[in-house]
Amino acid sequence: MKIAVFAGDGIGPEVTAQAVRVLNALDLPGLELIEGDVGGAAWRKHGHPLPEATLAIAHAADAILFGAVGDFDCDNLERHLRPEQAILGLRKELGLFANLRPATVFKGLEDMSSLKSEIALAIDLLIVRELNGDVYFGDKGIETLADGSRRGWDMMSYSEAEVRRIAHVGFRAAQGRRGKLCSVDKANVLETSQVWRDTVIAVSAEYPDVELSHMYVDNAAMQLVKNPGAFDVVVTGNLFGDILSDQASMCVGSIGLLASAALAEGTKGLYEPIHGSAPDIAGQDKANPMATILSAAMLLRHSFGLEAPAARIEAAVAKALADGIRGGDLGGSAGTREIGDAVLARL
Ligand code: IPM
Ligand code: MG
Repeated sequence: MKIAVFAGDGIGPEVTAQAVRVLNALDLPGLELIEGDVGGAAWRKHGHPLPEATLAIAHAADAILFGAVGDFDCDNLERHLRPEQAILGLRKELGLFANLRPATVFKGLEDMSSLKSEIALAIDLLIVRELNGDVYFGDKGIETLADGSRRGWDMMSYSEAEVRRIAHVGFRAAQGRRGKLCSVDKANVLETSQVWRDTVIAVSAEYPDVELSHMYVDNAAMQLVKNPGAFDVVVTGNLFGDILSDQASMCVGSIGLLASAALAEGTKGLYEPIHGSAPDIAGQDKANPMATILSAAMLLRHSFGLEAPAARIEAAVAKALADGIRGGDLGGSAGTREIGDAVLARL
């Protein structure tokens, strides 16, 4: 069990350290953790956010536990040197095309939601976001026009093959849940979305047990706050998925609790909390490590098929929350290490 641990920037190292304590406490046979530098931290040390050595560790590992990247000091660097390129590069280089972003309200925490608690309590959805295509990886550039002003562009595209493979992930996920898949696009305006929609419909023939619906992304944003309980699995492209998953996290209210997986074909995956590097509270023992600890649980489940220890971690986090252990993000005062201790005690 080779697990690469890429802590990254800001609160990344603190929250990752707690997840590593939890993994070590499980006494898993053959567990090997290998650390690597990513993001602004890697740029400072090696001049690149995703150094060759880190990429080699990632290729050799069975799974990757990722903290967070993002560093204000790097905001003016050329784009290929910015911390975000570490995560984008790993997604692309390792073919991590399927992003699973579950959003569920923990009982007792519904007051944290920006929505009315009876609406929030109904949230139990999974966003399946495509991660290897779309405007993120299309031709892009900035040119200077004759009048001296600039024009920027980023090309959006999806091939049928790219849509097909993420659609299968969406349909299979729906089969394991409530059997409903909502495909989100902008087919009323975008040709990319027309190919997306036609392809999802074609794939649906293989899943007669899944109820497929389609929604334009603007309407999806609206329904997410109006009636989020109606969603089971949402499958969508890279950009729409980026936006909707942040929105979904606030509907739940506790961004410090949401984990995610980025999966390749096969069992390889990268697991990370969906929150960012939060430089404003970095190094102060204030960040909630629960999302990273829950990401470690997803790692055991999806990359190693270890359902029992994964469920054990999730139960320990749920118990800590039920016992009133709250980080600052949940209006409490428990510190990063204290939350780690509380979860370990309940394992
Ligand atoms: C995310 C983040 C990344 C993205 C950034 C850090 C590049 O927002 O994982 O959602 O846009 O995909
Ligand atoms: Mg995002």
